[in-house]
Amino acid sequence: MDIIQVEGGFPLTGEVTVEGAKNSALKLMAATLMAPGVTTLTNVPNISDVHTMGTVLQCLGAVIEVADEHTLKIDTSCIDSWVTPYELVAKMRASTAVLGPLITRFGKAVVAMPGGCNIGARKIDMHLQGLAALGVQFEIDHGNIHASTPEGLHGAQVELEFASVGATENLLMGAVCAKGTTTIDNAAREPEIIDLANMLNDAGANIQGAGTPSITINGVDSLHAVKHKVVGDRIEAGTFVAIAGITGGPITVKDFDPEHLALVLRKYEGMGLSIVRGENEVTVSRPTTQPIQPTDIQTLPFPGFPTDMQAQTMTLLALANGDSFITENVFENRFMLAAELNRMGADIRIEGHHAIVHGVKGFSGAPVTSPDLRGGAALVMAGLVADGYTKIDGVHHIDRGYEHFVEKLASLGAHIQRVKAQPLNLDGLSPFA
Ligand code: EPZ
Repeated sequence: MDIIQVEGGFPLTGEVTVEGAKNSALKLMAATLMAPGVTTLTNVPNISDVHTMGTVLQCLGAVIEVADEHTLKIDTSCIDSWVTPYELVAKMRASTAVLGPLITRFGKAVVAMPGGCNIGARKIDMHLQGLAALGVQFEIDHGNIHASTPEGLHGAQVELEFASVGATENLLMGAVCAKGTTTIDNAAREPEIIDLANMLNDAGANIQGAGTPSITINGVDSLHAVKHKVVGDRIEAGTFVAIAGITGGPITVKDFDPEHLALVLRKYEGMGLSIVRGENEVTVSRPTTQPIQPTDIQTLPFPGFPTDMQAQTMTLLALANGDSFITENVFENRFMLAAELNRMGADIRIEGHHAIVHGVKGFSGAPVTSPDLRGGAALVMAGLVADGYTKIDGVHHIDRGYEHFVEKLASLGAHIQRVKAQPLNLDGLSPFA
């Protein structure tokens, strides 16, 4: 198992280019199941979640050519299975994004019930309720969801209890070839939803209103393969913006749309960061004489403050000159980073969905454990400014969503490396051996 070792206290300056959005690419890959032929996806991030989704598609009979590090040619002409491998769905819940596409392609699907994960139960009841409204029948058997459409797929009016990203996407993909018109109210508005709708419309779908709370889908007979560039990853970009804020920068973060991070950038300016916006980039700095200002954060569906930026922001606020209050409204257990930051000298108290962050002068480097994808990146961020060395394990979490994370930080000047873990040799020391 690898660990990431960081020696804190060195300036980070320069340029970093973000990849395509993980939370779009995975769904675009799933959507290719509905368009027989060769779909070319460019700007695909080279991350382990994409590798897992590629394996799921190949298990279903797709043939994927990795044309270059960031280009996939996905041929779904001959897919012949609608049964996803249980282990892969259990490993990556985003695999449930194949549910809608398989039902559209085959009228049926078998997908494992996704397990929860560190950040929460990750239920899919809204996915199933919405698809049921379109005519899908479900049976849960031995951990698998068995979906069928005895009467075929038909349009419906669906209102989501919560603006769920995954439910909106599965419903969108279940409705594109349904007979008639579907409306999704209280739909998620994330930029990744717009990216998916754009690709589907290029492929022949008829989707209006993506990015608004009400999406209308007029069913069409079929979709065809297209070429599509994955939208830039606003969360990877936001992570590097936070890194510029904690180290001082200046760092220019390129290849994403600053509008996709509008609220985060505004909050960060209020925290004392200087942010110059370009068309597809931002340049971020914070004079070391300018302390980080405390603030209050409420995570919400887009355009609210993204939950995927909560950990990075907690790390910034842990060094603010005052107290901050973070409320996590999207996931039920996404504060595990706090205990790890407290090992490094932070002063964070959790009360239910709230974190009270009392700013401290600095972090002390320590061995810490990544609680999840974004928490892992946030611990690396803390290590960049900690006194001494920080060793972060659980690096596989970071690999799920950040391509070449260590290399990108090293290119900015970080003293960082990925090394093999050296477990403590306790042979002969246990009195119970
Ligand atoms: C997507 O997860 C992202 N993952 C998450 O990013 C992101 O945090 C989340 O959207 C919110 O923006 C991918 O796109 C692969 P939700 P998703 O459905 O679709 C509950 C990262 O770090 N819920 O909007 O699972 C659910 O339990 C990851 O990149 C139900 O109760 O998010 C959660 O508490 C983490 N029933 C809340 O809604 C349902 O049927 C939001 O979930 C569906 C969701």
